[in-house]
Amino acid sequence: MLINIRYEDGEVKFIDTTLLPNKFRIVSTKDPDVIIEAIRKMKIRGAPAIGAASALCLALAANKAQKNNKEELKKIIDDYARKLIEARPTAYNMYYAIKRIQRVIEENDNDIRQKILDEALKICEEDIEANRKIAELGASLIKDGDRILTHCNTGALATVGIGTALGIISYAAKTKKIFVYATETRPVLQGARLTAWELRAQKIPYKILPDSAVGYLLKRGEVDKIFVGADRIFSTGHVINKIGTFTIAVLAKRFNIPFYVAAPTSTIDFKNKVEDVKVEERSREEVIRIKRLYIAPKDANAFNPAFDITDPELIDAIITEKGIVYRPFERSLKELIL
Ligand code: MRU
Repeated sequence: MLINIRYEDGEVKFIDTTLLPNKFRIVSTKDPDVIIEAIRKMKIRGAPAIGAASALCLALAANKAQKNNKEELKKIIDDYARKLIEARPTAYNMYYAIKRIQRVIEENDNDIRQKILDEALKICEEDIEANRKIAELGASLIKDGDRILTHCNTGALATVGIGTALGIISYAAKTKKIFVYATETRPVLQGARLTAWELRAQKIPYKILPDSAVGYLLKRGEVDKIFVGADRIFSTGHVINKIGTFTIAVLAKRFNIPFYVAAPTSTIDFKNKVEDVKVEERSREEVIRIKRLYIAPKDANAFNPAFDITDPELIDAIITEKGIVYRPFERSLKELIL
């Protein structure tokens, strides 16, 4: 199995996903700042991978404190938590991971650094297990012969395990004949670069779809189901996910195509309200160049929101490791966690 991010021999090892599909490179580091930079530059991306990497980053940062100096440790972890949030503020899995590590410090007086590392490794293990359960549950929604559309990359390259939406697709493809449409996912092409790479490796038949072709394809009746991931799910069922998700969901409703969101419960934010969260906007450079090649005038300005928000009424079901929930999400999500 492809392992996107892991801890081995005192180092964090992760795949630099910005180089794919042309180069496969694993970065090894003991330096928490390297992980923060990797998250900022989207070498590590995808909400569950960001959560796991954040936990491991804090475990590395803890080594900067003197053994068992609780006050110093707390300060270092809080500083690094702030830096992580600054690097990429949307994925709720990051906040979830930070909270769990901070709780280890609050609740312990001895061996805290080791306990932080244990907790970070547990967060990674839990993601692998959550992915597996999501895949099993989600695959029950897929029929033999289904043509499935997915957006962005939600596979092994976005998680610690087999993935969320793409994990479901991979799992279903083991026993069912399916076909996948992977959107390109401009501007940084996670669909064309990463999802296509994963589908190809698993020999799952697919076509890449320009983002702008989704409406036409759905209107022609060539998609049976849509599966996407999530960066943050609110208690109301509003879903923050890769820019373009909302457009696909509106089109799915227009053409009566089931639209499913898959995510572990570590993505669910019961604390904040959708209107209080600012969607990350990234640089104009991401839009006007592909690698070093400018595809627009060099001084062109660009609007580059990384995510959008899909309204709950556009979502048919949310698939988590604890079960599949349906509208009204306000109630079903709460029941799921209780
Ligand atoms: O900007 P990215 O590549 O981090 O965005 C990724 C997505 O939007 C994914 O759909 C989401 O994080 C879920 S990944 C399992």
